[in-house]
Amino acid sequence: MNKGETFYVTTPIYYVNDRPHIGHAYTTILADVLARYARLLETPTFFLTGTDEHGQKVYEAARKNGITPQQQCDDTVVRFQELWKTLEITHDDFIRTTEPRHEQVVQQILQDLYDRGEIYADDYEGWYCVPCERFFTEKDLIEGNCRECGRPVQKLVERNYFFRMSAYQDWLVDYVEQHPDFIQPAHRRQETLGFLRQPLCDLCISRPKSRLSWGIELPFDAGYVTYVWFDALVNYISAIGYLSDDVRFNHWWPPAYHLIGKDILTTHTVYWPTMLKAMGLEMPKTIFAHGWWLVGKDKMSKSLGNVVNPMETAEIYGVDPFRYFLLAEMTLGQDASFTEEGFVTRYNADLANDLGNLASRVVKMILRNLNGTLPAPPELTDAETELVEKTLAAVKHMENYLNDMQLDRGLAEVMAAVRECNRYFEQMAPWQLAKDGSTDDLERVLYCAAECLRIVSGLLFPVMPGKMTTLRRSLGLPEKDLKPRIEELAQWGGLESGMRMADPGSLFPRVEPRDQATATTQKKQAEARKPTPAKQDESNLVDIKDVGRLSLKTARIVSAEPVEGADKLLKLVVDLGVEQRQIVAGIAKHYNPDELPGKTIVVIANLKPAVIRGVESNGMLLAAQSKGEMRLVTVEDKVPGGWQVS
Ligand code: ME8
Ligand code: MG
Repeated sequence: MNKGETFYVTTPIYYVNDRPHIGHAYTTILADVLARYARLLETPTFFLTGTDEHGQKVYEAARKNGITPQQQCDDTVVRFQELWKTLEITHDDFIRTTEPRHEQVVQQILQDLYDRGEIYADDYEGWYCVPCERFFTEKDLIEGNCRECGRPVQKLVERNYFFRMSAYQDWLVDYVEQHPDFIQPAHRRQETLGFLRQPLCDLCISRPKSRLSWGIELPFDAGYVTYVWFDALVNYISAIGYLSDDVRFNHWWPPAYHLIGKDILTTHTVYWPTMLKAMGLEMPKTIFAHGWWLVGKDKMSKSLGNVVNPMETAEIYGVDPFRYFLLAEMTLGQDASFTEEGFVTRYNADLANDLGNLASRVVKMILRNLNGTLPAPPELTDAETELVEKTLAAVKHMENYLNDMQLDRGLAEVMAAVRECNRYFEQMAPWQLAKDGSTDDLERVLYCAAECLRIVSGLLFPVMPGKMTTLRRSLGLPEKDLKPRIEELAQWGGLESGMRMADPGSLFPRVEPRDQATATTQKKQAEARKPTPAKQDESNLVDIKDVGRLSLKTARIVSAEPVEGADKLLKLVVDLGVEQRQIVAGIAKHYNPDELPGKTIVVIANLKPAVIRGVESNGMLLAAQSKGEMRLVTVEDKVPGGWQVS
């Protein structure tokens, strides 16, 4: 991020198999903050994000949702794009791997590598699970069975295409060793070097269409599509004009940062560099793998039901505090924990108390005592030494910590300047100066506090663009200077005499933890609605005795498979603790048989047996449905089968 250089930063392109969560939001916000700092430093900046739309995951999701893969992409991409808008993400481009501008480049690269013998055909021996339609290597298997469904697999020999990745192993090890900044942080670099101590295989880059058709066709063999990673990684070059606009491409390549999560380290630090090397391209300057957001102490996962929805958090507490929390809380490279409590504590301490309070007190005093007009920059006295030093030090620190990717420490320095300003304000007690009629002193103190806020608001602008714009406007900065520039921040005394202050309102009102907040909101909403008692149709009401006649029980799904000739039905074997039963259910359009085993559902256990499409069914499962969608009623935690539900 230096003057005279360009700054090209990327995020992973996210799979469109599901809606975005806090992890996706984090990497994208991080990239946005870096891009905004680079712009503040007046470095030409290009920020790329996008979506990874081919491959098995997206295909499966489409099948599960009963739509075409393209529809799956088109529906889901909007969720990402809308979220980025809400979160004030300022990407310069958004690439989708199903766009022709990308597909063409992938095909050209494949053809070129094939022509040059970098890609060759060979037989691939592996283990295939027919129901899962998945190919596994020996080491992927669990006790010789499919790692997904546990069923037996069969040996299969398949013709495939391979990229000569192994040929680049020695070169890559040398490169990583000679470029300490190439993979960051250092422990991820070690991890990659560790991986490279094993012999590197050639990379299978094709999938026969008979197994997976949702991908980019190999230009030299129409029977295959390319492996999703060979397609996805190329986004970083296709988006900036590789093979279509040399000038543009050479202007931006190589990137300053590929930002990734630690989950996709090998693909980015082994596959991608060897691919680039084979293409004869320069290496990215840094591949930076950040840590994991945990929810409390747990991994965020669907099965744990603790997926943090960034939209919701930002809606409740505001986009800027959300962005601030994510960056201040995570030490880059390490894992961090997201809890409602942690969020609220930091919000109240840093934003509501320290920064918000200061801003409101300073501006209000200028409005009240100086008619809202800023005095001329005063002569500084000894009392200001500390304040000026701390504030200007924050600017330097931020610049340095940015270069070291230690944003949390940079932000801590900015907050230290804010706290120093609070201390100064308390110590100088301007309200007393006003009372005493010490106008010169009063003007000096208010000017200096406002000036500190100007610099601080500029430093925090990349993280909290909305609130800091409000603050800078209220300090009287003209519209053209609301977006900060480094020269202006590095210099004390930027506020000019006669600037008009305006009340910023409450920038960061104190918040309560969400449980209470939600409860309050819900109560308010309920009150506002003043529900008119719904007219109940008496004939629809049942007696408690009737309810008692139904035996509802938990049941663990043991296996699930399609019913031949009935595309809506699945045949389930469920475990009720004391017995196993077969149940036929009309859920095939909504669930893939492979995702069901292991779920604990609720069944009506004392239903008369029935024969459906020639298959016996002993019970009925409960599911929620609306407008063509259906979800099974499941039970939290690892409840076994056989519990009474009432
Ligand atoms: O892997 N904490 O896409 P993806 C922090 N399409 N970051 C997280 C996270 C968490 N708990 N969970 C996800 C893919 N992320 C491929 C990438 S790139 C050429 C292709 C973030 O949708 C993190 O950046 O699974 C991680 O690397 C990325 O989301 C994975 O997103
Ligand atoms: Mg993933």
